[in-house]
Amino acid sequence: MNRFENKTVVVTGGAGDIGAAICRRFAAEGAKVWVVDTNVEAAEELSAAIRAEGGNADFRNVNLTDAKAIGSFVTSLTEDGGQIDVLCNNAGLMRRGPLLELSPEDWSLSFKVNVDALFHMCRVVIPVMQAQGGGVIINTASQWGLHPAPGHIAYNTSKAAVVAFTENLGRDYAPDNIRVNGIAPGEVRTPMLESNLARSGRSIDDLNALVPYGRIGEPEEIAALVAFLASDEAGYLCGTVVEITGAQAVA
Ligand SMILES: NC(=O)c1ccc[n+]([C@@H]2O[C@H](COP(=O)([O-])OP(=O)(O)OC[C@H]3O[C@@H](n4cnc5c(N)ncnc54)[C@H](O)[C@@H]3O)[C@@H](O)[C@H]2O)c1
Repeated sequence: MNRFENKTVVVTGGAGDIGAAICRRFAAEGAKVWVVDTNVEAAEELSAAIRAEGGNADFRNVNLTDAKAIGSFVTSLTEDGGQIDVLCNNAGLMRRGPLLELSPEDWSLSFKVNVDALFHMCRVVIPVMQAQGGGVIINTASQWGLHPAPGHIAYNTSKAAVVAFTENLGRDYAPDNIRVNGIAPGEVRTPMLESNLARSGRSIDDLNALVPYGRIGEPEEIAALVAFLASDEAGYLCGTVVEITGAQAVA
């Protein structure tokens, strides 16, 4: 499939575990991909690897907690008439703990990265999409933003805000031919998850056993959903959040 030929795609947190799979998927389908991440080494390595595979990718070091940096990044892409066809607000971070074990700093950072960055990014990207006649925005929420798992109040509440933000944005800008949707993944097999498991003495098999489908998700499966939502095949999907969980209930 070459659904994104001549399309420019921005992926925040593009150097992360799921972000990298999203970048690779869009590049494999013909897009020019911007990997946006503060992990410069990983972003540079990923974009070089995509280019070596024949794709088109580059990276930018943009701290998403800095509204000015977001504005400068978008201006640099679009000032000479460049388009942004697809924006994936994928970056996110998790600070663990129930209320009394969570610092005000961790609460605030969770909202800065998981929610405020989407506000600032969309405020500068939506005018670009309006001017070019449309576009697609995909926000990464989490299953825990819909059905909270205990002990993660900052993460879960911020991801619930991503769900609400997505539904609102979708309604407000659908008349401008801007399709906004979100995804709500369950557990995804990433290196970070595997190292956390190793620390807690549990195995991937323990986690797989909790999923009715028999296993947790793979980053490539999340990327496939994002690519579908960004494609014309999802033309009437707008203002909604799709759960991708292997039918797992939150325990
Ligand atoms: N991994 C899972 O099981 C899972 C499940 C549900 C939802 N999610 C969500 O999917 C998204 C991607 O998760 P992941 O597992 O790939 O995470 P990850 O930690 O591997 O990647 C996140 C990336 O975002 C970047 N980032 C963080 N703060 C930033 C900032 N201020 N400015 C610029 N870049 C910044 C990091 O450098 C990192 O590369 C997140 O929004 C996460 O909440 C993940």
